[in-house]
Order: sequence, then C-alpha cells, then structure tokens
Amino acid sequence: MLLTARSLSKVLQLTLAVIKPDAVAHPVMLETLHQTILDNNFAIVRCKDLVWTRQDSQRFYAEHSGRFFYQRLVEFMSSGPMRAYVLAREDAICHWRELMGPTKVFRARYTSPASIRAQFGLTDTRNTTHGSDSAESAQREIRFFFPDFCAEEWMDKEEPAFRSGQIHYDHQKQIHVPLTQS
Ligand code: RTP
Ligand code: MG
Repeated sequence: MLLTARSLSKVLQLTLAVIKPDAVAHPVMLETLHQTILDNNFAIVRCKDLVWTRQDSQRFYAEHSGRFFYQRLVEFMSSGPMRAYVLAREDAICHWRELMGPTKVFRARYTSPASIRAQFGLTDTRNTTHGSDSAESAQREIRFFFPDFCAEEWMDKEEPAFRSGQIHYDHQKQIHVPLTQS
C-alpha cells in the first residue's frame, strides 16, 4: 500500500460551531462565515439552522448561571435564528477557537485583528460565533444540537473517508458527504 501524507495524517476531531444570531441576521455575513469554514479546511459534517427557546438557552449556558452576563447571554441566544455545525478537521476544536479569536470583541480587535470576532463581533455578548472548548464539551454540545447524530458511529464509519479526502461538497445541502454516498 502506498502511504501518502494524507493517509498518515492524524484522526480527525469533531467540534461544534455556532453562528450566533447577530451574524445570522446578516445574510452576507453568514455566507462569508460559511466560506471561512470551507477555506480553513474544515469538513462540514452537519449543518442546521434553528431558533432556541429561552429554556434551550438557559440549559446550554447553565455553566454560566450566576455570572453578570448570564441573563444578557440567554436573551441574546434566543433572540433569533442561528446556525449550528458539526465540523471535522485535525485539531478542529483548537483551530476553530483560534479562528474565532478571544471572547471579548475589543480584545480580539487588538490582539487578533484577522479573527472572526475582531472582524464581525459587535459586543462582548454579541460576538458572532461559538466553539466547543474541549473534547468533552464538543461531545456534549454536539449531542445538544444534533441529538440524532452519533459521533462514535461517524468516527467508525465515515472518518476514514473524510481523513483521506474521499468526500464531496454538496452545494445544496451545504455539507460534505463521502464520495460513496454522492
Ligand atoms: P463561546 O462559549 O460562545 O464559544 O465563547 P467563549 O468560550 O469564548 O466564552 P465563554 O466564557 O464560554 O462565554 C460564553 C459566551 O458568553 C458571552 N459573554 N459575555 N459580557 C461579557 O463579559 C461576556 N463574557 C462572555 C459571550 O457571548 C461568550 O461567547
Ligand atoms: Mg465557552
């Protein structure tokens, strides 16, 4: 068997990425962010548009309850449509968070001017995107947004095709699918 650089590469990691209501409200910004995901070699495993109830928002951000920004955050995240993704890449969690930049928009503009939050963020709450911060969070958050998606099964059955580039971008569904399924 010929061992190419691709076939030797690391197992892909999954992360949960969200485009928050401030960005989804602007179709051009949403399209730009979708393209940024593709340009940064993430494979889009799942993608869906949704609106949270206040209860969804409270549940997802329970770890922040009691913080001074919690109510503001809960209101904001249930204020309109957002878009959620399951993304795959080598070190996906770290790469997506690096691409987002620091949480606070004004810090992002100063320290990471090319980051998503620096370019598109409005305030420390309305900061355009979310990304899981660890493998454990990614697992929990993917389950929260995509209850029908089984990460273990995906790793088992589809990860090898994604890692070796045997995938195709479906422009209509806006996700990548293994070549065998297209
Ligand atoms: P995220 O969870 O959204 O990816 O952001 P993060 O890890 O960078 O930040 P985290 O500390 O988990 O905070 C979650 C979200 O709460 C809002 N926030 N507002 N006003 C504030 O000082 C403040 N701090 C946090 C932001 O929307 C942040 O993304
Ligand atoms: Mg966080």
